[in-house]
Amino acid sequence: MTQEIPAIDLNKQHASIRAELDEAITRVLTKGTFILGGEVVSFENEFAEYCGIAHAIGVASGTDALQLALLACGIGTGDEVIAPSHTAVATVAAIEMTGAKPVLVDIELTRFGLDPEAVVAAITPQTRCILPVHLYGCPVDLNPILEIARAKNILVLEDCSQAHGASYHRRRVGGWGDIAAFSFYPTKNLGALGDGGAVVTNNPELAERVRLLRQYGWKERYISHIKGMNSRLDELQAAILRVKLRHLDAWNARRRELANLYLEMLSGADMALPVQPEDSEHIFHQFVIRHPKRDEFQAHLRAHGIHTLVHYPVPVHLQPAYANLTQMVGTLPKSERCAREVLSLPMYPELSEEEIRRVSQVILKFFN
Ligand SMILES: Cc1ncc(COP(=O)(O)O)c(C=O)c1O
Repeated sequence: MTQEIPAIDLNKQHASIRAELDEAITRVLTKGTFILGGEVVSFENEFAEYCGIAHAIGVASGTDALQLALLACGIGTGDEVIAPSHTAVATVAAIEMTGAKPVLVDIELTRFGLDPEAVVAAITPQTRCILPVHLYGCPVDLNPILEIARAKNILVLEDCSQAHGASYHRRRVGGWGDIAAFSFYPTKNLGALGDGGAVVTNNPELAERVRLLRQYGWKERYISHIKGMNSRLDELQAAILRVKLRHLDAWNARRRELANLYLEMLSGADMALPVQPEDSEHIFHQFVIRHPKRDEFQAHLRAHGIHTLVHYPVPVHLQPAYANLTQMVGTLPKSERCAREVLSLPMYPELSEEEIRRVSQVILKFFN
């Protein structure tokens, strides 16, 4: 029987760095500090340096990172935040949790990023923030969005949860807008062994507000200077992330290599393949193709032992919980089309070239 190819396999990654992970876990256990200690401070410094940004603040998840970034910017009830509907629901959940109104707009189909024209059309006097999401590891075309935001004095919050290490015009994402959020959910290009996230910014005041907000507004223990919450990154996750950060560039390079092999193998196939914009370095968090008969296509792959995923089957404005947005948003043709057509092929650094060839051959069979 042929070997199954999973959509993602973290065991292989962890086996390849097991000794380093064990050492990090033992170090934390021996030290006996579990919340906001030296590992978190070191990870924050190392991650900020990696991103080329002045400040990184470790928090409990990517969703919290988005929420805390918005709160630090003073965004809440009465404010509007422009975001894509074709994204992880977390992007929109975080906006709603601040009390602000998500204004969901359409995307363009090259990078799956916010469509600048749709952004302009959605601006009102209440718009306080534009929230581009670097989906699948492909940087959004930020320059037009930054131009719109600057002209209208609107903040830009980048959702970098799927784009650790991706760059736009040779500079890493996360430092282009006013503030940015990362998720370290285990399956991300940089993933913890549990939940985790970070807010990054070059603005010292915003950084300080995020630091206060993540722990009850404390500067010193038990004295709340502002109203905050508990959203801390723990020492164990920080220690794990420090290990994995050392491998991130090599892992991203390997993903790009594998993506190029897919692109070469599939160049003649009648489907929409991912694009690598010349101004950017795509880090292929996902390798996403589009096909009008996606479900049939997915079943064909599954019948040959190849597992795939759909990111995402329903755009946020059509989710049952967001009925409040459905009417307000109307139709978003490209986002709705993506939900019907996108398919994420197996993509992780530990895949072999032989496996990529096998997936590609099974795909090519679908067209014959
Ligand atoms: C684009 C995007 N934004 C936000 C999040 C939320 O991150 P988390 O799961 O760490 O809360 C994720 C990950 O699921 C994501 O992919």
